[in-house]
Amino acid sequence: MTSVPRIQLNDGHSIPQLGFGVFKVDPHETVRIVSDALEVGYRHIDTARIYGNEAGVGTALAESGIPREELFITTKLWNTDHGTQSAFDAFDASLERLGLDEVDLYLIHWPSPKGDRYVEAWKALEQIRESGRARSIGVSNFLVPHLERLLAETDVVPAVDQIELHPAHQQPATAAFAEQHGIAIEAWGPLGQGKYPLFDVPEIADAAEAHGKSPAQVVIRWHLQRGHIVFPKSNRRERMAENFDVFDFELSDAEVQAITALEREGRVGSHPADVD
Ligand SMILES: NC(=O)c1ccc[n+]([C@@H]2O[C@H](COP(=O)([O-])OP(=O)(O)OC[C@H]3O[C@@H](n4cnc5c(N)ncnc54)[C@H](OP(=O)(O)O)[C@@H]3O)[C@@H](O)[C@H]2O)c1
Repeated sequence: MTSVPRIQLNDGHSIPQLGFGVFKVDPHETVRIVSDALEVGYRHIDTARIYGNEAGVGTALAESGIPREELFITTKLWNTDHGTQSAFDAFDASLERLGLDEVDLYLIHWPSPKGDRYVEAWKALEQIRESGRARSIGVSNFLVPHLERLLAETDVVPAVDQIELHPAHQQPATAAFAEQHGIAIEAWGPLGQGKYPLFDVPEIADAAEAHGKSPAQVVIRWHLQRGHIVFPKSNRRERMAENFDVFDFELSDAEVQAITALEREGRVGSHPADVD
């Protein structure tokens, strides 16, 4: 069994650096897809209330028979639930759908700044963590001003910030701020969600050829060597296996630097200011 490295979080817990994401995984297919991912070897699953597939994730986990302590499960609070009581209720409902007594990581999905209740939501997550039902808490899509506000107005520093991050869009300001404050970076859309022609870029294609690996494997390897936590999504079992088979080669410093130099603010998802 492949041993996936773990990243130490600022609260004493650790997280498998490579996991499996289920954004846009059809709820009707989720049991099959997550079961495949668990069979391939993934033990870290990233879902969210808004994906509509927490129940399928829970069924696959239960059917797998894998001991709970070997699994790392993340879910997220949706934007319409930032009030204190609605956050508690949303969290309970997520646990119920997942069939779990606790999650390993609970995130605020977006700051949703127009509603301006993310500080209230964060205080609710602090209480959820205190109750022991979320081992770690963090945020997603938070930019520097949102993080600064949490640091100034609340007690717990987020364990992670999950942001869009791939070679064409690396969010250096947010990543540097997070590093300064001990917040681990989780890279969503690590393959550019298939919307950016990452795999045709010579720096990636050349490294793939040099190592006898696929362009996707090179991009995932780049994330790992940059210290990101990463959970590529695929509906296809052969790609799940390909994306997991990234521990038998290493990119040179020059290759990592060449891929890092591909930054061009190539956002493929939404800007955090625009998501309510
Ligand atoms: N916090 C947030 O706001 C947020 C937003 C987006 C995503 N996320 C999380 O991040 C996870 C990963 O991001 P993502 O799913 O958006 O995008 P992604 O992992 O960057 O890309 C997924 C796309 O790449 C394709 N793909 C996967 N492996 C491939 C391979 N080896 N070769 C070629 N193509 C491949 C998939 O197609 P097939 O399925 O057909 O293989 C799919 O179209 C999500 O599942 C979710 O857990 C979080």
